[in-house]
Amino acid sequence: MDLTFEASRALDHADPVAAMRAEFHFPEAPSGQPATYLCGNSLGLQPRGTVAEVARVLADWQRLAVRAHHGAGTEWLTYQDTLAPSLARLVGAATDEVTAMASLTINLHLLMASFYRPTRDRYAILIEAGSFPSDRYAMSAQLANRGFDPADALVQLAPREGERCLREEDIEAAIQREGGRLALVLLPGVQYLTGQCLDMARLARAAQAVGARFGLDLAHAVGNVPLALHDWGVDFAAWCSYKYLNGGPGATAGLFVHARHHDADLPRLAGWYGNELRTRFQFDERFVPERGAAGWQVSNGPILGMAPLRASLAQFDAVGIDALVDKSRKLTAYLEALIDARLGAAVEVLTPREPARRGAQLSLRARGGREAGRALFEQFTAAGVIGDWREPDVIRLAPAPLYNSFGDCWQAVEAVSARA
Ligand SMILES: Cc1ncc(COP(=O)(O)O)c(C=O)c1O
Repeated sequence: MDLTFEASRALDHADPVAAMRAEFHFPEAPSGQPATYLCGNSLGLQPRGTVAEVARVLADWQRLAVRAHHGAGTEWLTYQDTLAPSLARLVGAATDEVTAMASLTINLHLLMASFYRPTRDRYAILIEAGSFPSDRYAMSAQLANRGFDPADALVQLAPREGERCLREEDIEAAIQREGGRLALVLLPGVQYLTGQCLDMARLARAAQAVGARFGLDLAHAVGNVPLALHDWGVDFAAWCSYKYLNGGPGATAGLFVHARHHDADLPRLAGWYGNELRTRFQFDERFVPERGAAGWQVSNGPILGMAPLRASLAQFDAVGIDALVDKSRKLTAYLEALIDARLGAAVEVLTPREPARRGAQLSLRARGGREAGRALFEQFTAAGVIGDWREPDVIRLAPAPLYNSFGDCWQAVEAVSARA
């Protein structure tokens, strides 16, 4: 691969998605120039269309106040339904299998109320030992709430000694080992620390083969890697919208419930917005859930929190996830080649090398230990490269294909390689 600056320019020139970059606001580097932003795995950039979309909601509130719930063109009553088709395309689902609502951990709890139905014999939950803390806290709390001891009932699977990524065959073996007592398997689509993308279809089959339910935390996967939740038979999934989906800090999250559960009379932590729209305002005594994922809604949606997502999803629709994934694989491979060639003596790439086993993120571990890693991270920061640091020793860099360029990757590595 040609790793010169001129070659990065040529790659950007040939990139069919390149024009999207101009549709985003970039933060400033210490130099006053736009920063080299490689942190979309943490908080995506603000689309230029966001302000107008939020302003539209504010203007409707001014002009129409309560009447905007039902007003033509304002759609507050069904605002989340306008997001569902785009979300469905991103996660590989039917429109009625997804809904935009609440936040990621809250949605996991709500989904657990329906999908974690422990019995005396089948009660354990399998997660990865390195799972995002919120997931572990939530699963432990669910176990404790149902009277189980997490020390026994939370099965935590770690990578092999000396390895950072989990192997699918080891997860399968653990699922089989736990077999009869396993109620639920909850895994990430893309692991937050290593950037590893798991084979979700394979693991869904393994969990369901022993009679367990299979759920996904897609925080780092949605808008990043190809997903086919319906065809993979995933029981349920939840995600946040502030990372690759560029929905803004604390943005309204989303969830998926597979169609095969839509007719089941599943218990749920109901609220009035989950009641079918047809009778919602009749205020009946009895709760009749809306069919599909929308029936898991609880409260009326935060319109101001959803407006940025609407602007962002329009961009995803304009480009299409296939074109994005195609660019993403090239972009990440290009950053990987630059790191190997120019920073390889200083850092090791923890993320899997195969394009299908990762998304946009590369996780780097400093060969010289934590202090060397911190020093390198600070060099990145001083040079206007925004990535992030995860204790104890990982720098994460994520070129997001909607707004990052091959030039960004070149610039990031150039900024520190003279001193690394
Ligand atoms: C993998 C994963 N799970 C859960 C969360 C928690 O999300 P929230 O605070 O939106 O509930 C995060 C946040 O970054 C995450 O990365």
